[in-house]
Amino acid sequence: MGVSTLLDRAAATSWLDRVARPLRAAAGAVLRPRGLRELLQGVPIGHALHPVLVQVPVGAWTSAAVLDLMPGQRRAADVLISVGWLGALPAATAGWADWSAQRPEHQRVGLVHVTANVLALGLYAGSLVARARGRRLLGRTLSYSGYAVAGTSAYIGGHLVYRQAAAVNHAASVPYLAPGDWSAAGPLSDVPEGRPVARMVDGIPVCLYRDGEHLYALADRCSHLAGPLHDGDVAAGAVTCPWHGSTFDLADGRRRGGPATAPQPSFDTRVRDGQVEVRYRSVRNRS
Ligand code: FES
Repeated sequence: MGVSTLLDRAAATSWLDRVARPLRAAAGAVLRPRGLRELLQGVPIGHALHPVLVQVPVGAWTSAAVLDLMPGQRRAADVLISVGWLGALPAATAGWADWSAQRPEHQRVGLVHVTANVLALGLYAGSLVARARGRRLLGRTLSYSGYAVAGTSAYIGGHLVYRQAAAVNHAASVPYLAPGDWSAAGPLSDVPEGRPVARMVDGIPVCLYRDGEHLYALADRCSHLAGPLHDGDVAAGAVTCPWHGSTFDLADGRRRGGPATAPQPSFDTRVRDGQVEVRYRSVRNRS
């Protein structure tokens, strides 16, 4: 059985939710300030911050592993292991912020990822202690073991992103699937006033919202984790996703808040002979 299959099984192991629950509650308490949470989730840079911060421990520990093979580089290797250890802390905090707003299947595999990272940190901490006591062979054995575990953990992180699609833009395919021209979205009389509804338009779920003279259309599947926007609440010109509370401007899909880091694809609208028509608002079509 492959490692991916084992991780798929972990994703389906519901008893892990008992471990996830208090960690999620702790994230809610510790990361309550909105600015801090959004910074850690990568909102200012437009996607998750975690993979950026991970460069510090990965780079430092890789360099230490090389220096440990070179004569006269002991001190430099020790310093780099410490740098990697300290650099892992902000990376872990950013990962925690992402993890706290993921689906249960992601969180279960995320717990395996965290367990491997904690083990790697423990091995590196033991290595630093051994090195400080002059036990170089033990120190190097522990750090190479930590490096192997950290590499395994990186594989698990890749599984989360590339296989389970955690922390990716779930609306990214809309620009590729949407036809460039106007498409029928059903009769205007079927779109109630003041309540979002979903319509399939050329195979794309679209959320329509009617507010007096104005008719808005956004891709219905939330960019965060594909939550159904038509089940969300609308207030002050924005719709809030019912799953994790990301909020998007109805007029242009701009993100106003929540864990989503990408905007929501938006559509131009018009009414012809009582029929609603929408057209994906590509960069070219944006006024
Ligand atoms: S799916 Fe998470 S905020 Fe929409």
